[in-house]
Order: sequence, then C-alpha cells, then structure tokens
Amino acid sequence: AVELPKPLIVKEPKVEVDDGKKKVTIFFGTQTGTAEGFAKALAEEAKARYDSATFKVVDLDDYALDDDEYEEKLKKETLAFFFLATYGDGEPTDNAARFFKWFTEGNEKGEWLQDLQYGVFGLGNRQYEHFNKVAKVVDEILAQQGGKRLVPVGLGDDDKCIEDDFTAWKELVWPELDLLLLDEDSRTVSTPYTAAILEYRVVFHDPDDALIQDKSWANANGHAVHDAQHPCRANVAVRRELHTPASDRSCIHLEFDISGTGLKYETGDHVGVYCENLTQTVEEAERLLGLSPDTYFSIHTDNEDGTPISGGSLPLPFPPCTLRTALTQYADLLNSPKKSALVALAAHASDPGEADRLRFLASPAGKDEYSQWVVASQRSLLEVMAEFPSAKPPLGVFFAAVAPRLQPRYYSISSSPRLAPTRIHVTCALVYEKTPTGRIHKGVCSTWMKNAVPLDETHDSSWAPIYVRQSNFKLPADTSVPIIMIGPGTGLAPFRGFLQERFALKEAGVGLGPSILFFGCRSCKTDYIYDEELKNFVETGVISELVVAFSRDGPTKIYVQHRMMEKASDIWNMISQGGYVYVCGDAKGMAKDVHRTLHTIMQEQGSMDSSKAESMVKNLQMTGRYLRDVW
Ligand code: 2AM
Repeated sequence: AVELPKPLIVKEPKVEVDDGKKKVTIFFGTQTGTAEGFAKALAEEAKARYDSATFKVVDLDDYALDDDEYEEKLKKETLAFFFLATYGDGEPTDNAARFFKWFTEGNEKGEWLQDLQYGVFGLGNRQYEHFNKVAKVVDEILAQQGGKRLVPVGLGDDDKCIEDDFTAWKELVWPELDLLLLDEDSRTVSTPYTAAILEYRVVFHDPDDALIQDKSWANANGHAVHDAQHPCRANVAVRRELHTPASDRSCIHLEFDISGTGLKYETGDHVGVYCENLTQTVEEAERLLGLSPDTYFSIHTDNEDGTPISGGSLPLPFPPCTLRTALTQYADLLNSPKKSALVALAAHASDPGEADRLRFLASPAGKDEYSQWVVASQRSLLEVMAEFPSAKPPLGVFFAAVAPRLQPRYYSISSSPRLAPTRIHVTCALVYEKTPTGRIHKGVCSTWMKNAVPLDETHDSSWAPIYVRQSNFKLPADTSVPIIMIGPGTGLAPFRGFLQERFALKEAGVGLGPSILFFGCRSCKTDYIYDEELKNFVETGVISELVVAFSRDGPTKIYVQHRMMEKASDIWNMISQGGYVYVCGDAKGMAKDVHRTLHTIMQEQGSMDSSKAESMVKNLQMTGRYLRDVW
C-alpha cells in the first residue's frame, strides 16, 4: 500500500459540529449541588432558546481520567461555561480538585486555548477571605492561555442572594450566545428565557408487591470503596452531651462504629454524614403535598420508550421507596426555595392568585421581594409551601424541581485511628436558632445527632450512611517538628485527633517535638469541651502547653488571638524552628482574625515590615506549614 504524505499543517476544525449543531459544554465543580443546579439551569434555558446547539452538562471529575485527557479534550472545546464553587480556605470542590490542580500548575502551555470561547460563574461567600478564588483563578488562566472571555467572571455571593447574581450574570450571557447561536433575524425576536420545568417519570408500585424492595440507604453497604454515591452504613455507638447543664446550647460527641465495614480513615480527615429529616418535618411535607406517607413509588430519568427525559439534567434517581422514606432521606425541606422551585410550584397551583404571586416572586420584577420575603427571612421550602396551599406539585416535579436533594454534612473527625481504629468520632455543635419569621430552625444533621440513640443504650441503635473524605490537614511526618494548634469551639475537633495520635506515638516510644494548643470557648463552666482529656494530654506530655481563652467569663472578651499575642515569642520561636501552624473553626470571624494576628506576630517578633511578614506567612502556606480546616 502506498502511504500518502501527511499534510504538513493539520488544522483543527474551528467549530466541532455534531448534526450541524454547535457543541456547548457546561462544566461544574459542586459540593452541595448549587453549582451543578446552576449549570443545569443554564443548559435547560439555553436548550429552550437555541436549536442550533447542543448543551452538555459535565462533572469536572467525570470529564477526563488524567491530565493528558483534560488537555486533549479541552483543546477541542469551542464554547464552554464553568460553574465553580470555592470552599473553606479558598479551595475547589472535591470534584474540581483534580482539574484545578492540573489547570493551575501547568502554566507553560502557551496560548493553546485559542479556539475556546468561555464564561465562568463562581459560587462563594463574601464573608470569606478567598471570595470566589477558584472561579477567579480559572477565569484568569483561561484568558492567559488564549481563551476568549465572553462575559466577565460572575461572582456569586452566597451571603446575599446568589440566585440574583446568577440571574444577573445570565443576562450578560444571553446576548453573547444570541450572537453566536442565532441567525440575525431571530436575534431581534425577544423570546423569554424560560426553561421547561424538570420532571421525573414516576411509577407507583403496590406496596405489597414482593418484587419491590426498599432499596434506600438501609442496604447501603457492600461496596469496596465508599464515597458520596456509595456511603457505608454505620451504627451510632456512643452519644454524649459535651456542654454542662449550665449551658444554653448543646454540643454532641458522637461515635460511629466502623468495625467490619471496611471503612478507613486518617487523623485529620472529614466524615460525610447523610442525615434524616425529623418526622415532624416530614409529616408537614406530606400534608402539604396531600399524599399518603405509604405511597410507594420510583422516579425515572427516561421516558417509557427508554429515551432520556432531559439530556442528563435530572439528578440520579433514588431507589424505589415510600414517600415517607423519600422525604426523610432525600429531600432538602428546610432551606429556602430557589426561584426555579417557585416557578415549578406556580405551575401546579390551582389558585390563579397564588400562581401569579409565586411567578412574581421568581421574576425580575419580584427580585427585591424574593430577597426579602424568602432569603432574608430564611423562609424554608415548607414555610413557603404553607403560604401557597393550592400548589400541590406531583412527585415527579417535587423531587426534580422543587425540593433539592438532601446533602451530606461534613465534620472534621475528632479521633485518631491509632487510638480508635473501629470508631469515627464527631464533635458537633447543635444548630438551633430562631429565624426572622419566628420559626425555630433546627439544623438537620446536628438535630439528628442530638437525638441519635447509641448502641450502648439499645440494640436497635441509630445509624447513618457515612463516608470518609480525605483532607490535607495532617500532622508533620517528622514528629519532632513543633506544632501550633488554634481551635476554638468545635474547631478543637481535629486537634483532639492529633493529640490522640501523638498520645499513641508517645506510648510507642516515639519522641515528640514541642506543641501548643490554643482553645477558646464562652466559659470554663459551660462549654469547655473535653476539658478532662485536654488536661490529661498536658499531664502526659502529649501537648507542651494548653492555652485557653474564655470569652464571657470576664469583663472583656478574650479570644484565642489575644492569647496568641501573649505567646508571641513562643510562636515565633516554634515557627523559626520549622514549626507548623494549624487553624480550625469558623472561617468568617475567627480564622480571619487569627490570620491577621499571625501576621502581626511575624512582623513584630521578626522586626520586619508588613510586606515581608506577609510573604513569610504566604511562604508558610505554600510550603504546607500553615494549614487551615475552616468552614
Ligand atoms: P463569643 O461567642 O463570646 O463572642 C467558640 O465559639 C469561641 O470563639 C467563643 O468563645 C466565641 O466567643 C469565640 N469567638 C467569636 N468570635 C471570634 C473571633 N472573631 N475570633 C476568635 N474567637 C471568636
């Protein structure tokens, strides 16, 4: 056979076509599902508007198996949107972590994304130090590497109304997409940008049908690897109140029994917990839906003929179960409803007045009222439904478009496998607060933990589907390195794990470097959690020094950062000797203030100017010696 000479220049087609349609990829990096929801909402609205393109919503983790594949596939994209949430200490979500690392580290590729037009929308919270860092960084690098930015990066702020930010950003996107995807004639026609309301196909089953088993989380075990999709059922072995009776709040110490489950963890990891709604909450939802708790049904993402219902925009169905189970385990009923949920409710409201009002709240004209009446008032989905009693969405609509999926909650594990190999300990403050409407908001997971019945009280203990999420919040490999730990309130959790680990190491004859723990709480009499254990760790030399700050025991507030200033020279010495700094707890107030204090200590103790101190702190961060586990 004669081999033909290859053409010298291989030109990639500018626009990848598929049935003559332009391909648009909408990526998401999501933790609690909001970014994913926005990505899907954009896709649905765009599908309704543009016939000339196909819109594909893609989980960044599923997109490519390795870095090479990311590069190979991304090179071929011509039009893409990125929905990227920023978490904790300016970090990407789990499912975007691999992409983010590759994309931000490999900066020497030149302008290889010249065929790409793109838009980025970030999800963050302005209260945090690294507001929307992930979105900003990705947006910047995409441009540096040749991509053409269609719209300015959207900075969604969860502290206010992130849906409004999303709506405002979309208003910038449509004219750009009109130019790219509509012919000139259609551009002038103003089509409303409304998406179809998502809906599962629902099949009702006879509860006596022997073929139908309740495949809910009850049978969750049996997987080799446990992750968010495949959690592991773990019994509650111990539950104990950590506050004294004098406290008006509650903090729970909970132990999950993981013996025989195959579940493993390391000191400093997080545990994801799927919790359940209270029966009282579920009963209210049943009443509002007007359906019996025994209704046995399954939801499906395909039509009866097997064709997909909505191009992959629907979340994966949960297994067949009763309405009681579905509402208990899978429905987020207590967060405020999204505007799209109001539109879905409106479509199924039999009273036209109610339907109009719901549509108004979801419309641009109702923006201020939505942010006041729904968001600022923290009105829950159930409260809103109670105000519109004629709105009774069918189950397929309720689970697809009205109630988001109940998300797992994450906790810093407060034990070490060296001391507790068959247990995962959690330290959880109860969320119990009055909202502006007078409703008592009970945090779903913390309330579940508070009410959990442990194995040491009954054979029929409470259990939850859980899984372990790895973290980089780890002790230095060299045990002789000094460590500084700062963890007020439940920020103490991972440090209790650290200290258990050091205790086990010490028992095994390993030499330990100096360590100091700063703990803070309101009063030594109410919320000084694990005080006996901490005192023990001091006596046994597991920690060299324990420094406590009680904020409400004296005439002025004393916080951990005030105590840090008193120990400035010790901190400076430990850092100078190669020490590590760990901070855990509230990101909005405490971690910010502690960060500033650290900066001041460097500046004063090292007699350097502010910018030198800042670069030293940055350097600590870059080299993994200043680690934060904040929320
Ligand atoms: P406060 O509630 O009395 O203000 C654990 O929650 C401890 O952290 C409490 O003693 C709380 O004090 C304190 N705290 C609140 N804000 C803080 C901040 N910005 N920095 C450090 N500690 C803080």
